[in-house]
Amino acid sequence: MPGVSVKDKVVLISGSNRGIGKSFAIQALEMGAKKVYAGARDESQLAELIAKYGDKIVPIALDVTNQDHIDAAAAAARDVEILINNAGMGGGGPAVSNPNPDGQRMEMKVNYFGIMNLSSAFAPILKENGGGAIVNILSVAALSSFAFAPGYSASKAAGRSLTQALRVELGGQNTLVSGVFPGPVDTDMAKNVPMDKVSPDSVAIHVYEEIAKGSEDIYPDPFAVQFAKGVQADAKAVEKANAAGF
Ligand SMILES: NC(=O)c1ccc[n+]([C@@H]2O[C@H](COP(=O)([O-])OP(=O)(O)OC[C@H]3O[C@@H](n4cnc5c(N)ncnc54)[C@H](OP(=O)(O)O)[C@@H]3O)[C@@H](O)[C@H]2O)c1
Repeated sequence: MPGVSVKDKVVLISGSNRGIGKSFAIQALEMGAKKVYAGARDESQLAELIAKYGDKIVPIALDVTNQDHIDAAAAAARDVEILINNAGMGGGGPAVSNPNPDGQRMEMKVNYFGIMNLSSAFAPILKENGGGAIVNILSVAALSSFAFAPGYSASKAAGRSLTQALRVELGGQNTLVSGVFPGPVDTDMAKNVPMDKVSPDSVAIHVYEEIAKGSEDIYPDPFAVQFAKGVQADAKAVEKANAAGF
């Protein structure tokens, strides 16, 4: 699949009010995107982006678990060329000891069905606009489960499987479908993770550089590169290392 440069493109990003999604919005415009549809559950949290970039930021009310929001976004944003499925959450807890079943269901709703439903709504729009790209923000947890977060890991593994399926299904319409597998990134989500973290800006820039080359599997930080190499060399050893913790 040919690469898709963000320059002069119209981009829609879910969860763009903070964290990596906000960096995706900022870096898209810094790298020459025409316009960013900034998805957020609370549009008032987009004020800083709008103050900086004016009408290049178009706020979109978007809870990815709400099909009415998704349908309204697809009706309003007919010119989207790059869809970034960034919205994500964790917190479902472990599987057996003190689990949070509602949280685990929500992990699947947001991290898996969110990608499924947004991609499904925007695939015809991308087709109409020449193919474009769908970029799914997954995690190294998609490659090997983290026992402290089984629901999150399962939702990200499901997202990876869906990414592969979408790649096949949308290949015929010239849509690049990329999966991104970050390690720890310095955002609210990882604030209690006692590990070295890369900046969300560095992740966004790397992802835009990689989709411009047509990369399908993107490992945007040194931890992710090492983790993926480890899984490729010896998946069982990584599983055991994950079980032992960091
Ligand atoms: N940070 C890391 O270490 C790391 C590592 C690997 C992968 N990731 C992935 O990177 C993506 C971005 O995470 P982040 O680190 O930027 O986390 P974050 O700072 O916690 O931001 C999460 C974003 O997702 C949004 N979101 C959550 N539920 C949503 C829903 N139902 N509908 C729409 N938006 C929703 C949040 O909106 P609200 O503000 O309304 O809650 C927020 O904008 C996620 O998919 C995450 O799994 C993160």
